Amino acid sequence: MSETAESDAAGDAESPSVAGLGGGSPDMAEYPLQVEDLRKQFGGITAVDGVSFEIEAGTMTGLIGPNGAGKSTTFNCITGMYDPDGGTVTFNGEDVTGMDPHDIAQRGLVRTFQIARELSDMTVLENMMLAPKGQRGERLWQSVLPGTRDRVIEQETELVEQVWDALEFFDIDHLASERAGNLSGGQRKLLELARAMLTDPDMLLLDEPFAGVNPTLEARLLEHVHELRKQGYTFLIVEHDMDLIMNNCERVIVMHQGKLLTDGTPEEVRSDEEVIEAYLGGQA
Ligand SMILES: Nc1ncnc2c1ncn2[C@@H]1O[C@H](COP(=O)(O)OP(=O)(O)OP(=O)(O)O)[C@@H](O)[C@H]1O
Ligand SMILES: [Mg+2]
Repeated sequence: MSETAESDAAGDAESPSVAGLGGGSPDMAEYPLQVEDLRKQFGGITAVDGVSFEIEAGTMTGLIGPNGAGKSTTFNCITGMYDPDGGTVTFNGEDVTGMDPHDIAQRGLVRTFQIARELSDMTVLENMMLAPKGQRGERLWQSVLPGTRDRVIEQETELVEQVWDALEFFDIDHLASERAGNLSGGQRKLLELARAMLTDPDMLLLDEPFAGVNPTLEARLLEHVHELRKQGYTFLIVEHDMDLIMNNCERVIVMHQGKLLTDGTPEEVRSDEEVIEAYLGGQA
């Protein structure tokens, strides 16, 4: 199986880019995401306890830590699902702390979402057409004046093209008329990523994107992520598979009990005594 993955990776030079879906905007800050002293409590539990880090543009950073370390809560505070109790989240130079997820996504900071149960009966294509759109898609609904009709048709055609571009990029165009509920776990993850791309993001946050995905599809998903990164997109990934993180991220942030434990290269993190202890402690 690893042979397949390797030959795929080597022969992927011609994979289509997600044309017309933006990519990193030219004026993107060098460190688009800055998190400072972030805090979130649930009753007596401090899930995120003063976490600070910044993410460099065009990189893939791993966020790891034992169960309950606060990784998902950190993601939820960054993307507006939760209102943090303290600290700031800055994206492309703008303070987005406490904004709605929709407003944060409109600014290019996006997390993937599982396909909701009610969307499982719809086809892959319908799921894509219903996905939240970037700013260009949003304007479709405003263009209802008689004189703008041609323009609307033009924009709708553009949207359909973007949808097919994204489906092709993630190799799921052949599944367009398949019910989303019939997809395998891995195909579903590809659809989730394809949908996220339609929001025209600069940066993507992926929470366990490879959970339940078979090795062949995992290799393909990773290939797509690397390809997008080369195009200028920035990734922050939570994942329990240490080898995967160590082999694919240039930088790794480790959380433990709500706090940031270490932040460095895979080599630095791998040999960090505190990290080893945190993981061994978690398993004891
Ligand atoms: N909505 C919530 N209500 C109450 N407690 C919560 C809530 N969400 C998370 N917690 C608690 O906050 C802490 C951090 O949880 P979080 O889900 O962020 O950890 P995690 O690092 O993502 O863990 P895992 O690796 O298991 O996904 C845990 O103690 C968890 O029980
Ligand atoms: Mg989690």
